[in-house]
Amino acid sequence: KKVVLAYSGGLDTSIILKWLQEEYGAEVVTFTADLGQGEELAPAKEKALKLGIKPENIFIDDLREEFVRDFVFPMFRANTVYEGQYLLGTSIARPLISKRQIEIARMVGADAVCHGATGKGNDQVRFELGYYALEPDIRVIAPWREWDFKSREALLDFAEKHQIPISKDKRGEAPFSVDANLLHSSSEGKVLEDPAVEAPEFVHQRTISPEAAPDTPTVITIAFEKGDPVAIDGEALSPAALLTKLNQLGHDNGVGRLDLVENRFIGMKSRGVYETPGGTILLAAHRGMESITLDRGAMHLKDELMPKYASLIYNGFWFSPEREMLQAAIDLSQQKVSGTVRVKLYKGNVTVIGRESANSLYDQDLVTFEEGVQAYDHKDAEGFIKLNALRLRVLAKRDGQKG
Ligand code: ARG
Ligand code: SIN
Repeated sequence: KKVVLAYSGGLDTSIILKWLQEEYGAEVVTFTADLGQGEELAPAKEKALKLGIKPENIFIDDLREEFVRDFVFPMFRANTVYEGQYLLGTSIARPLISKRQIEIARMVGADAVCHGATGKGNDQVRFELGYYALEPDIRVIAPWREWDFKSREALLDFAEKHQIPISKDKRGEAPFSVDANLLHSSSEGKVLEDPAVEAPEFVHQRTISPEAAPDTPTVITIAFEKGDPVAIDGEALSPAALLTKLNQLGHDNGVGRLDLVENRFIGMKSRGVYETPGGTILLAAHRGMESITLDRGAMHLKDELMPKYASLIYNGFWFSPEREMLQAAIDLSQQKVSGTVRVKLYKGNVTVIGRESANSLYDQDLVTFEEGVQAYDHKDAEGFIKLNALRLRVLAKRDGQKG
């Protein structure tokens, strides 16, 4: 049996690696992706070699540009937030990991794929829906749902027995669970489990606190082309380079922290502390760009579709016909969403302070309070209001006066 394991190089996936070899008698192929999580990949390779993986069975891929270009940016075209708050930093990375894992499985002729998500969360669903959508007959191994370690201690004993290095502080429990990529970092569990208790400052990893941010604002200009950001302050940047730069600016100004309780797909509520510095800036700037380039009808329809689109991504249905249908509509809406947006970053806030576009629908002559133009006749408003009021008046006559 040959299994492709999504391998981070961390303790948990190293234990899974050993477990696959021991309990399954499987030949393990490791796949480690650089999604911008900010960790060196070389140690993951070293560790895999030490655990007996053949060099030709170790795959290390830098997926940062693909991640931002083909997953993050398409999602941001829709101004996507789940339950009004979560920018889906973890959710949007899963389909790419699934896709690459399946590609590798085909390349090496593996019959199974394996991930390290627990049996209680969203990630197991996202990984596996991705696998099955791309390779319907693939065998999926989810060790957290299968093995019979009863406790963290039992797991660590297994690690010790198989010479998997455990850093000293791991003997006590890990303080909380972290997932990170170029778009965000999320922390869940342990010190965060009681939603009544404020998260300690040390949980945050990629932003300074708004209180510690500089007293002078930072102003930047972001250029958009067809709904995607392409330059900062006149400097053209690749998708990953652009997001990296926004992350730094967000970090320095305490932008993008979120403490929430969300509804997992499997039916439980969970509390998380997320940081999405660059994404938070991008969301505000993109809305600013759309505000002058999108027609009201298009904009409002997008806003109605967005929660549906967000749920599809949250629940793991990236590779589904309904997500692709929505994506086609969203992408079509972005044809004229080009221009520049000026944004002010200040102590945790992102404020759009200017927008310009050659495609602007904003008509200063039309909206001005000063003596306006021909195209608008004030008298037309009277009939417009009267007709809209018609049924309200009929109702009021039947039901009597209110208020
Ligand atoms: N709850 C978030 C989601 O479902 C993050 C999950 C992964 N994060 C973690 N710290 N393990 O997208
Ligand atoms: C996990 O359970 O592996 C992480 C949390 C989640 O997937 O929701």
